[in-house]
Amino acid sequence: MNSSNPPTARQSVFRAVDIAKIYQMGEVQVHALRGVSVELYEGEFVVLLGASGSGKSTLLNILGGLDAPSSGTVHYLDRELTASDPSQLTRYRRDNVGFVFQFYNLIPSLTARENVELITEIATEPMDALDALDLVGLKDRSDHFPAQLSGGEQQRVAIARAIAKNPKVLLCDEPTGALDVQTGIVVLQAIGQINQQLGTTTAVITHNAEIAKMADRVILLSDGHIAGIERNSTKVAAQDLRW
Ligand SMILES: Nc1ncnc2c1ncn2[C@@H]1O[C@H](COP(=O)(O)OP(=O)(O)OP(=O)(O)O)[C@@H](O)[C@H]1O
Ligand SMILES: [Mg+2]
Repeated sequence: MNSSNPPTARQSVFRAVDIAKIYQMGEVQVHALRGVSVELYEGEFVVLLGASGSGKSTLLNILGGLDAPSSGTVHYLDRELTASDPSQLTRYRRDNVGFVFQFYNLIPSLTARENVELITEIATEPMDALDALDLVGLKDRSDHFPAQLSGGEQQRVAIARAIAKNPKVLLCDEPTGALDVQTGIVVLQAIGQINQQLGTTTAVITHNAEIAKMADRVILLSDGHIAGIERNSTKVAAQDLRW
């Protein structure tokens, strides 16, 4: 893939225009987002980078239909998420979005394969659960329970679960936040491979500037604003990152 393609050559998957998010905490208003406009393009790998409290999770949750902005508009392809009711948002998430969070949230009493099948059973065009586990290098551990897997392996099962429904977009909120460097790199390799092999539009939140080197574009958030968007002229493979 040629990462120097101008973004305008690609279809816009998300288009957020001037979104703000204000949390009312009693007397106090918390401005989590203060007028963010951004587009994400088909098939790209974007890293959202910024300090704690800068609004990264708030932005990702709004794109993923888990939360709604206080003002502004968000489109996913032709669909206006900000004009959707809760049941439409649920359907949007189920059909289009894979989520990966810092904590894996696997069901302890189910095997890796069964954890993935929970999702493939309700999806419209799922891949086979074993194929999804194969993509993250865990096909041979499919009958193991979460307690029999390391943290990094559990996170890879969570990634398999997120992508098994063949989502158009994969949204990851600090997927390596609970992992050591070497394990984090294996998890990032799995995410990068899904982006490249399946063309899944991917956004990864991190505090870690090193991880930004594997992105096509890096969106810098600061105090609820976009402080900058940088395009990497070369992408560094996950296995070559060090922190
Ligand atoms: N449910 C909520 N109620 C009140 N304030 C909130 C809520 N969620 C987030 N905030 C506030 O909004 C701001 C942005 O939070 P957000 O979680 O988006 O930051 P972040 O960049 O993801 O931070 P971190 O790196 O620590 O996860 C913070 O000041 C936070 O305290
Ligand atoms: Mg966060």
